[in-house]
Amino acid sequence: MSQEGSAITAGSPTAVDNEIMPKVHIYPQDVEIAVEPGKTLLDAALDNNIKIDHNCGGNCACSTCHVVIDEGFSTLNEVTEDEEDMLDEAEELEETSRLACQCKVTGDLVVRIPPKTDLLDDDTF
Ligand code: FES
Repeated sequence: MSQEGSAITAGSPTAVDNEIMPKVHIYPQDVEIAVEPGKTLLDAALDNNIKIDHNCGGNCACSTCHVVIDEGFSTLNEVTEDEEDMLDEAEELEETSRLACQCKVTGDLVVRIPPKTDLLDDDTF
């Protein structure tokens, strides 16, 4: 699947409108997007038509936006106690699991959407 207009190539940081944009590669879609620094991973994904379930609307009140950070975990903001509590409810929890609505992108990431996380409005899944 390709994401027209948002995919970028691997390598050095990408300058968009004179701003260095972190790159986020998302699986299983296998798409790389440039993200405005400070934006949540959930918002960045949704802005690029990458569907991550988000039943509570990004308010840290569910665990449906659970993702696994395969690279770049240390670049994210700290996990709060509330996020930890919600992550405890997630299926297929891993050491580098996060809630996409709670982590802010500040550096390059490789992110995996676990199979149990619903993908909305995508006929291919
Ligand atoms: Fe509910 Fe992220 S959307 S915790």
